[in-house]
Amino acid sequence: MAPPSLHETVKVVEKMVTRRVDLRSDTVTKPTESMRAAMASAEVDDDVLGYDPTALLLETEMAKIMGKEAALFVPSGTMGNLIAVLVHCEVRGSEVILGDTCHINIFENGGISTIGGVHSRQIKNNDDGTIDIDLIEAAIRDPRGELMFPTTTLICLENSHANSGGRCLSVEYTDRVGEVAKKHGLKLHIDGARIFNASVALGVPVDRLVEAADSVSVCLSKGIGAPVGSVIVGSKNFIAKAKRLRKTLGGGMRQIGILCAAALVALKENVGKLESDHKKTRLLADGLHEIKGLKINPGSVETNIIFIDIVDGSRTTTEKIIKYLEERGILLMRDKPSRLRVVLHHQISASDVQYTLSCFQQAVQIENGN
Ligand SMILES: Cc1ncc(COP(=O)(O)O)c(C=O)c1O
Repeated sequence: MAPPSLHETVKVVEKMVTRRVDLRSDTVTKPTESMRAAMASAEVDDDVLGYDPTALLLETEMAKIMGKEAALFVPSGTMGNLIAVLVHCEVRGSEVILGDTCHINIFENGGISTIGGVHSRQIKNNDDGTIDIDLIEAAIRDPRGELMFPTTTLICLENSHANSGGRCLSVEYTDRVGEVAKKHGLKLHIDGARIFNASVALGVPVDRLVEAADSVSVCLSKGIGAPVGSVIVGSKNFIAKAKRLRKTLGGGMRQIGILCAAALVALKENVGKLESDHKKTRLLADGLHEIKGLKINPGSVETNIIFIDIVDGSRTTTEKIIKYLEERGILLMRDKPSRLRVVLHHQISASDVQYTLSCFQQAVQIENGN
């Protein structure tokens, strides 16, 4: 076969350089053509006054999908969680039981305490994202000590659990936590930023998966690929209080139908793509597992997130791998000094997975010479 011409070589190099495989998060997706078209033609009105028809449509649809009475669009998952915790913990001195590695505890600026005055009781998260139920029960304050103790009011779970690598909480586990909550007169909130990923991976309808929860915060801008926003769902009474709090926090926005139109397309077109995202994630994880110098726990890959550890004694580092991949258009994040995190989404193709695998292989080989 004739060697490639200079022109062909330049084309290949250009393609390599311009190729972009963005694995930093599932929040990086770009709106699809159909989302952009829906946004351009969305019917809108002032949502603070309660008249935006597309927002009302999205909220009605989400309430139905999640099996709850009502729903409310909010600008972000962080605000959704904050509002939910604040609604459930309206009495000063309330305490929430949550996992020590959950998003609310680690990545939300401690908003539930700094803004909400809510005390948090952090219980160890297991590697699979659960919290032992006996530890939850043991953490519930004895009301007879109310002169001294904060008042346990709420339990929070996260499904899928991002810091555990996107692992899923089963419906049985969620129901059992719900029973504990009920028994003690507490509420249960689920941070369901990636609840559709969990539902698809578990093969459990999403409304069934969150049946035990009093409220759920669902991100539109993660796995399902809408550009902006989250929705919180719960009872009509919960949502009425949530609406006031959203306004207090500056989350009352006007013609949000533009954003909700894209979210409606995401619900229609992208939930069905999650299964394929999970398959590609599995393929990538299995391939990475084969590369000497890297360590994956294949059993922990259940949805669209992979943690990649650098094996002790390896000459490569997360910095070197990130730089090598970045030069080849592959973006990813470091989770810890010796751990990388990649997240797949619907804009990552099977060929992107193969390309990423071969670049990883080269990056590690160059340092370790194996
Ligand atoms: C599990 C989880 N909950 C909540 C959030 C917060 O969402 P947002 O970035 O929209 O505030 C994130 C964001 O990554 C998340 O991963």
